[in-house]
Parts: sequence; C-alpha cells; structure tokens
Amino acid sequence: MPRMTVNDQPVEFEINPDTPLLWALRDAANLTGTKYGCGVGDCGACMVIVDGEALRSCLITIAEAEGRFITTIEGLSRDRSHPVQQAMVAEQAIQCGFCTPGIVMSGAALIAKNAAPTKAEIEQAIPNLCRCGVYPRLVKAIQRAGRVARRSETISAAPAPGISAQDAAQTVPAIVSPEAVAADETE
Ligand code: FES
Ligand code: FES
Repeated sequence: MPRMTVNDQPVEFEINPDTPLLWALRDAANLTGTKYGCGVGDCGACMVIVDGEALRSCLITIAEAEGRFITTIEGLSRDRSHPVQQAMVAEQAIQCGFCTPGIVMSGAALIAKNAAPTKAEIEQAIPNLCRCGVYPRLVKAIQRAGRVARRSETISAAPAPGISAQDAAQTVPAIVSPEAVAADETE
C-alpha cells in the first residue's frame, strides 16, 4: 500500500493504489482543503505541493506519490500565517474562496523559489482558474507575499480560523446567528 509523508506525518493509504491523490487526501485523510474542481487537470483547485513543486493532485495516483513529501493547504501553516495567505487576505484576492487553497499552494511553491516574481512569472506559475476573476488582485497579492518573504514588509496575521457565529453574523448581515434564530422562535 502506498506510503508517503503528508503534512510532515507518515501516511499509508490502504486503498486502491490507482486512486488519485486528490481523493485519498479528501476522502481517506479528511484533508478537504484540497478542492475538486474539474478532475482533469484544468482548474488547479486540487493543487498541492509535492517535493517542492505545485502539482494537480487529481492527475497523480497515490502509487505515483509513493515516498514523496506532500503538503496540503492544511499543512502550509497552522494559523494562516504563511506570507501568501496573509497577502491574499490583505489584498482582498479572495471572493467565493473555492479556488483559493489551490492558488495559495501554487503561490507558495513559487515564492519559495522566487520571492520577487514578475507579473509574467506569476501568471506562468499560477495557472489556476478563478471563476470570480481575482487575477489582478492575485498578482498584487503574490508580489506582496514575496516582499513579506523577503522581510521587506510585514502584514499583520490573517484572522484566526474558527470565527464565532455571532461575529460572522455581525460581519455578514445576511447570516443570521443561532441566538437570533432562537430568539425569533420564542417570540
Ligand atoms: S480538480 Fe485537479 S485540476 Fe481541476
Ligand atoms: S474566488 Fe471564487 S473561484 Fe476564485
């Protein structure tokens, strides 16, 4: 059965070796931050870092990933403190967010090799599709992440995961907090 290292943990998948890495991560390892978009290598939603390279996890089987070092969005940082994560938030380069984990992984792999990428280098290294069209902000975010990685700029950390329902409802008025629903029901 294929063995590999996922987010610094040794993993052995007791499933069909022909299973795409994407499904092993999502369904067997419960690492659902890696998204399924097209399944055929077009969108980049499933991007993970394999031995330092951004790869589409829908295109490689776990047999092909045997012995390799895999990083998913869950393993990039524990508190959204990676420069690409911080810069994506700071530049508001996230809309619906579906493409975001894949874009962050492509961006992180790029910044690790080239912390001062040009617009053309960013466009080449991040082929990910974004149906919301964040591309202009994405270029700014990746260049800003590079400056953070080079320590020529700092960004305060992105909000910690796990926002409370009440805080979410204050920020996004369309969300009704559980407390408000309960109050309505008792009226
Ligand atoms: S799901 Fe892998 S490239 Fe679209
Ligand atoms: S932010 Fe919606 S698909 Fe990219």
